[in-house]
Amino acid sequence: MPTEPSPTSPHVAGMQRFWTPAGELPLARVSRAEGLYVWDTTGRRYIDATSGPVAVNLGHANPRVLRALQDQAASVCFAYPTAFESESNVRLTARLTEQAGMGLDCAFFVSSGSEAVEKCLQFARRHAIATGQGTRFKVISRNPSYHGSTRTMMALSADPGYAALLPQGQTGIHVPAPWSYRTPDGLDPSSYANQCAEALRERIQAEVPESVLAFILEPVMGFCGGADYASAAYYRRVREICNEFGVLLIYDETISGAGRTGKFLAAHWWPGAEPDLVTLAKGIGGGYCPLAAFLAPSRMVDAVTTAGGFHLGHTHKGHPLACAVGLAVLEETLGQGLIARANDVGVYLRSALESLRGEIPILGNVRGLGMLNAIEIVADPATKAMLPRSIDVIGRIQALAREDGLLFYGRRTHGGRFGDFLMVTPPLIATPADLDAMVAGIRQALRRFTAELPPGVLP
Ligand SMILES: Cc1ncc(COP(=O)(O)O)c(C=O)c1O
Repeated sequence: MPTEPSPTSPHVAGMQRFWTPAGELPLARVSRAEGLYVWDTTGRRYIDATSGPVAVNLGHANPRVLRALQDQAASVCFAYPTAFESESNVRLTARLTEQAGMGLDCAFFVSSGSEAVEKCLQFARRHAIATGQGTRFKVISRNPSYHGSTRTMMALSADPGYAALLPQGQTGIHVPAPWSYRTPDGLDPSSYANQCAEALRERIQAEVPESVLAFILEPVMGFCGGADYASAAYYRRVREICNEFGVLLIYDETISGAGRTGKFLAAHWWPGAEPDLVTLAKGIGGGYCPLAAFLAPSRMVDAVTTAGGFHLGHTHKGHPLACAVGLAVLEETLGQGLIARANDVGVYLRSALESLRGEIPILGNVRGLGMLNAIEIVADPATKAMLPRSIDVIGRIQALAREDGLLFYGRRTHGGRFGDFLMVTPPLIATPADLDAMVAGIRQALRRFTAELPPGVLP
């Protein structure tokens, strides 16, 4: 019989059973959260440097969002969208698409980023069939990338660590993602980005262009690439290539959307490279409710509805409570001017992180856009050599930071082949003083991590 979980029990219980080997201690149990802080049941306080997994953009316990949650819950939590229209869904669609612009005036709401990308690709395929382009079914993605954890998303994501979980015979079609830090053959970042764009062109040609449905990318990379992004020329060239071959361009803005980069969508940074479809998740629900979406223009939606409609469902699609939360999160984000502010505080944060360079010998690179930032940890900043892959760099730094009350979400993707990045993505409400406290915690964790490295690892 499973034992009853108790706050003092040494047994791992609940979901943690799925990832913690027997004999290890359970995580501290959460008790409450407010603003940037989370407390456990022993009264210990933690400051959150990554907004959970880049979701809690407004911090915790925002009064406006809590009020919206309570009001909506008191009237109606659930109504299936094929049975009833719901006001929160209609209002959120209008507000969100107004912010997105670029002709993206329809929104399909689901519960997670993985579902949003999945639904977006299914919609793209339906659109191809509806418009006489039924030969188009292939989706090209980038390596590295991360688009979620359903089996199709894992195939898109190109991480060899997922190979064993892919549906039989399924692999993705990948082209390189441009880097700014560790470019091959010492190329400067824009020449390499140009090569990456041309690799897309070649790949579309090699696949037979009429079979290619879409190209999907994270405009600013998340956990797979530590907040790296390319110059405007890359996105514009990718747009041209997609136009040339009639391939849809999809931006997965699960992480980069909802104001995180200092624009409502990262796509807004690169006029002339507008995507056809966009996915959003994480920050649009702010962690208060599971909420994600894909956005599409009326012209595509009309083509699909005329041909029979897009009925594929999830029980919680367009969930009234989640939409009410999404609306309050958006109004609060706009009302507090947090999107424009993300630029200023992001500049402040990167400069504070840069200032660690003199005293932290493993700090390789500081990069990011707005409040979507990362630092790259290396063995030697002069050569950009990585630390041995046998060292769980991110896991260990996370553990050390946590001991000192600083929370980081992160994971090593692609087996560390592309580097070790520590995401620094605080809630958008963080003040310069809050950021100073986080950077002090990062300094302390990196010092402790450096001190425990085995001899000979650093030059
Ligand atoms: C770019 C990107 N797409 C999709 C996902 C999947 O989102 P979810 O975890 O909500 O399914 C993530 C999650 O980190 C992501 O970073």
